[in-house]
Amino acid sequence: MAHFPNTFAEELMPLPEDLGEVGNAALERIRAVNFDVKAGLTIDAASQMVAYSKDEAVREYCPNDAQSRFSSLASTQSWLKKHGGRGVLLMTKQVSASTELVAEAGWEGLTSDDPEGEVTFAVRAYELARGKRLTEDFSRVVIAASAVLYGVDSKRQLALETWRSNIAAGKIYGRIGFEETHDVLDKRETLKPTAQQPDGAHVWKEKDGKLYRRDERVHMRFVGES
Ligand SMILES: CC(C)(COP(=O)(O)OP(=O)(O)OC[C@H]1O[C@@H](n2cnc3c(N)ncnc32)[C@H](O)[C@@H]1OP(=O)(O)O)[C@@H](O)C(=O)NCCC(=O)NCCS
Repeated sequence: MAHFPNTFAEELMPLPEDLGEVGNAALERIRAVNFDVKAGLTIDAASQMVAYSKDEAVREYCPNDAQSRFSSLASTQSWLKKHGGRGVLLMTKQVSASTELVAEAGWEGLTSDDPEGEVTFAVRAYELARGKRLTEDFSRVVIAASAVLYGVDSKRQLALETWRSNIAAGKIYGRIGFEETHDVLDKRETLKPTAQQPDGAHVWKEKDGKLYRRDERVHMRFVGES
């Protein structure tokens, strides 16, 4: 039975000692390059996520972060309550005695109110960590810690959705044990003003003044690492 926190945390919590073989090894590699992973979402960390959600790479693939999910502290507080709660894990860097920066955020939460139902997984690498090949290990830690802390039965419950054109995300999810189940042809808003995207897709403007492109929603389920 999966149960998640549904309010801001007073402070970020250290992870449990034992995250299993995959989780322990991933956390060790993250700590070796002077980042750490903590559980919970404080108001300070949420304020950072509100600011980072305006970042171009996040807006390109996850426009809901800036438009609704993390548009303000109030919207983040409502999001934390979605379908009973969201289990947030943060990769952080302590840059001074009083300042801990959020480098990546990952979360799991139910997609309906059924604690036995499907659990969604999501990850964001912010500027401090993006492109450093830390997201694979951070995602492994999010999955391992969510199983221990929130009772997620990952192989039975865990699933995600990504865009086909998000090459980096697709590679990471494949490597950490997600398998594609199906895709759905769709369009998504894009910030890239060129007529053609890097993968050849064309961009068009709609009546709302926004740019769109063809893309596929890719659905994946967690089967574990082989
Ligand atoms: C997508 C995201 C999670 C990837 O994390 P990351 O830490 O930047 O990626 P990594 O450094 O681990 O790179 C993973 C792989 O993707 C490749 N890659 C990275 N950026 C890429 C890009 N823009 N285009 C193509 N490949 C890319 C890397 O070369 C690496 O491949 P390799 O290991 O085979 O050489 C991160 O960029 C991000 O948070 N973006 C914004 C939000 C988002 O898209 N979240 C996921 C929603 S589903």
